[in-house]
Amino acid sequence: MSAKPVLIAQISDLHIKPPGALAYGRVDTASALERCVAALNAFTPKPDLVVISGDLADTPTAEEYEYLKRLLAPLKLPTVGIPGNHDSRELMRATFPQAAYAYPTGPLNQRVESGGLDLVLLDSSVPGRPHGELDAPTLQWLDATLASSPVRPAVLFLHHPPFKTGIWHMDRQYLLNAGELAAVVKRHPRTQLIAAGHIHRAILTMFAGIQSTICPAPNHAVDLDLAELREPSFKVEPPAFHLHAWFPGEGFGSVVTHQVPIGHYDGPHPFFGPDGKLL
Ligand SMILES: [Fe+2]
Repeated sequence: MSAKPVLIAQISDLHIKPPGALAYGRVDTASALERCVAALNAFTPKPDLVVISGDLADTPTAEEYEYLKRLLAPLKLPTVGIPGNHDSRELMRATFPQAAYAYPTGPLNQRVESGGLDLVLLDSSVPGRPHGELDAPTLQWLDATLASSPVRPAVLFLHHPPFKTGIWHMDRQYLLNAGELAAVVKRHPRTQLIAAGHIHRAILTMFAGIQSTICPAPNHAVDLDLAELREPSFKVEPPAFHLHAWFPGEGFGSVVTHQVPIGHYDGPHPFFGPDGKLL
């Protein structure tokens, strides 16, 4: 039998408001997170870890983080988070005090081991601004962290994608110093995947020669407007999360990303009847 994969669930852009409030006056992000938590708890086999890739709160306020903690309490899986542009580093530190942050203040970078895989969580938030940037200490920490165990495969998580997606208003607020990230990861071939959030849509590309993904959200999606037809807009599309499966193997093994829809759908049904013939 082949070796068991390490399963990392990624959820993103929760945008939790105070109890009873709707995001943008329309989206019940708390109910969306409750459905997401139920889907994570029901998934078999159990993911090894859940990474929340930013925008946990919306405003942000202490009340929103308190509500977030209540909504996450039923989740039966270990969970780590990184800030997005809607978050507060200080409030996140207070919300997740047990996390192994790289520094006592400033960016909330973390390295987390899950089986044979290293997860490197990068804080790309710039306090008070929508765009992303990795500051000099974070880039140095990333370089040193990737250099520290060169034979272990690594997956990088950060909120802001280091590439443009073609959605005009989001392309103004991506990771502005993506070139500096590319320079670091190119020095360390052990990086197998870069996983971001921020756009609320499933998106795939290559960045610096590495497969790169953006995770969809459990709530609303940024409108797929590739022609500057509209003011910045959102749509309520089918909710989902990502499940990154790392399979040990030759070299650094391999990573496959599955998109998992949230909700109840018909099935699973067998393809074949008891006689072995297709139904
Ligand atoms: Fe964001």
